[in-house]
Amino acid sequence: MKKEVSRKFCVAPMMGYTTPYARKLYRILSNNSFLFSEMIATKSLIYSKSRENIIDNDFNNPVALQVGGSEIEDLTKASKIAIDYNYDEINLNVGCPSKAVQKGSFGACLMLDKILVRNCIEALQNDKIEATLKCRLGLGRELNYEFFEEFIDEISKTGIKFIYVHARNAILSGISPQGNRTIPPLSYDFVRKIKNKYPNITFILNGGINHLDKAESLLKEFDGVMVGRLIKKNPFILKEVDKKIFNEKNRLIDETIINNYFEYIKPKLGFESIFRLLSPLLNIFFSVPHSKIYKSKINDYMKEQKLNLIEDLLIQYVSEKNLN
Ligand SMILES: Cc1cc2nc3c(=O)[nH]c(=O)nc-3n(C[C@H](O)[C@H](O)[C@H](O)COP(=O)(O)O)c2cc1C
Repeated sequence: MKKEVSRKFCVAPMMGYTTPYARKLYRILSNNSFLFSEMIATKSLIYSKSRENIIDNDFNNPVALQVGGSEIEDLTKASKIAIDYNYDEINLNVGCPSKAVQKGSFGACLMLDKILVRNCIEALQNDKIEATLKCRLGLGRELNYEFFEEFIDEISKTGIKFIYVHARNAILSGISPQGNRTIPPLSYDFVRKIKNKYPNITFILNGGINHLDKAESLLKEFDGVMVGRLIKKNPFILKEVDKKIFNEKNRLIDETIINNYFEYIKPKLGFESIFRLLSPLLNIFFSVPHSKIYKSKINDYMKEQKLNLIEDLLIQYVSEKNLN
């Protein structure tokens, strides 16, 4: 049976950022946000010896596993793996414009072949896990609503329930993945229109939501929002989400946050780089004045792999700075 979960506030998949460690921190900070893994190529998911480290999900639900791929058998296997690792959802990436991803025939270039995307979604579908899509509005420099509508018309035939739309085109040559997140203009209007056409599909709006107030206001109109770079810059914003978006108590930044996080990462030292383990938490210094001494001590302890000392220092830091 598929679990009913809220996708009102989603943290976008971000390669190099939404690691299992970051997701642990996000979950400590917000009970209700819906989380995503980084995009994992189906081949890595199926064959990688370090699969455990890449997709570990320590009951940080609700959470989606995002995959990149277009080979039907691989996608079906990926969906089974997502179930085994207790994910709530498997999501197909049809938005990444990078050259490497195009070479592997997945990501945004798949928008050129809507029938293949439909087949891919069908390969992911089963009665245990929700199969969803994350796409762009279209390809190239010109916005074209008809193209987007025809693409969704085809995908809707799968019975899909949730589609995340990064509300701008992808430009497949001439600009970088970074440029592809700023240069093509946003059009929330396309998402407004398509959601009116398909009331049975939940369209989750993504792109350019750079403040929680903006997320809150868009939620008056859209059933869900997905936020990426705002959280990448400062994950501690998530401590406001339960209160602002879900009318629950917000999380305080205290010793328990630090303890819970270290409890998860300590056993991973030796299997994973100390930087990858700690980097999500080190955003705690974001825009807090006079943190330099702490940062430099932590750097020294990181070189010596001294997680216990780093934990003690961060506990001292949160009590001294009173970050709530
Ligand atoms: C560093 C970085 C890595 C990203 N990696 C992925 C990814 O793995 N899969 C994906 O679908 N989108 C990826 N994205 C795109 C985001 O999910 C999101 O669609 C985009 O950043 C727009 O949302 P925002 O304006 O809230 O940042 C990435 C974005 C960034 C900044």
